[in-house]
Amino acid sequence: MDRNFALEFVRVTEAAAIASAKLMGRGDETAADLAAVEAMRQRMNSIQFDGRVVIGEGERDEAPMLYIGERVGAGDGPKLDLALDPLEGTTICANGGTNALSVIAIADEGNFLHAPDVYMEKIAVGPSCKGIIDLNLGVTENLRRIAAQKNIPVQSLTVIILDRPRHAELMHEVRGLGSRIWLIGDGDVSAAIATCKRSGGVDVLVGTGGAPEGVIAAAALRCMGGDFQGRLIFRTDAERARARKMGITDLNKVYQIDELAKGPVMFSATGVTQGTFLDGVQFKGTQRITTHSVVMRSDTGTIRYIEAEHHIGTEPN
Ligand code: FBP
Repeated sequence: MDRNFALEFVRVTEAAAIASAKLMGRGDETAADLAAVEAMRQRMNSIQFDGRVVIGEGERDEAPMLYIGERVGAGDGPKLDLALDPLEGTTICANGGTNALSVIAIADEGNFLHAPDVYMEKIAVGPSCKGIIDLNLGVTENLRRIAAQKNIPVQSLTVIILDRPRHAELMHEVRGLGSRIWLIGDGDVSAAIATCKRSGGVDVLVGTGGAPEGVIAAAALRCMGGDFQGRLIFRTDAERARARKMGITDLNKVYQIDELAKGPVMFSATGVTQGTFLDGVQFKGTQRITTHSVVMRSDTGTIRYIEAEHHIGTEPN
């Protein structure tokens, strides 16, 4: 995969982030998401590649743009698969909260898990704990292992969890161990990434979130040297049937990070709202917009932070 694609794709997440950030705090999730989707798609179609959306806005009949299977890009060029979320954290953006991102991950054809839009049980850690997590062992054993690996008491661990009623038992177990909990309203891609940042203030992400977001987080953590495991969670027979139709035979499988995102992977994210990982889009007077992005490659582990100044009228949307 041409390494220069990484920089091309920063423009894509920048465009989507700017478009949705303009609607921050309006209370309109649909409008913010649509703005991001349109900007991302338009920008992507100017890049010379033959792309296919593997993780996108949903099935073809429910998403008019960037649906699963949609061909994107200018057509000529390498065949690449995309796992994208033009606005990860639609509610965050609509409410003007923290940590909404525009994200895109790129791999060679066939290298992302075709995850159905169901839930996924997840565990994510940073590079120092790579290889020691095991979703099958439950949260208590995993937290003990992480604490031992970091040579700190289990009570010093910070565990990030989506604030959802379904996590009541999980939180009870973590509290029983005495670990600290950081509850987030939304945005578990950003939370997974935070486990890889020294300044992220997080040791581990646990709990159940979207499966598409799991694939995207796995791609990011491949580039950052972290670790991630996920198991699909099905709530209905219809969800199970859809997964089987997508070629998933073992419905209880624990996916390792490189089964979710294989081979060389690139990842680009731009902050939409202010965040722990990336600052949000800043509108400066009538003339300038500043964006904050990160672009990473698994081949080299290079992580580039890009602060861009866009002049109004020439910004990438
Ligand atoms: P959206 O951007 O699609 O709204 O996703 C936000 C998010 O919080 C994800 O980060 C997370 O994986 C998922 O929703 C959790 O789903 P739910 O809100 O149904 O618990």
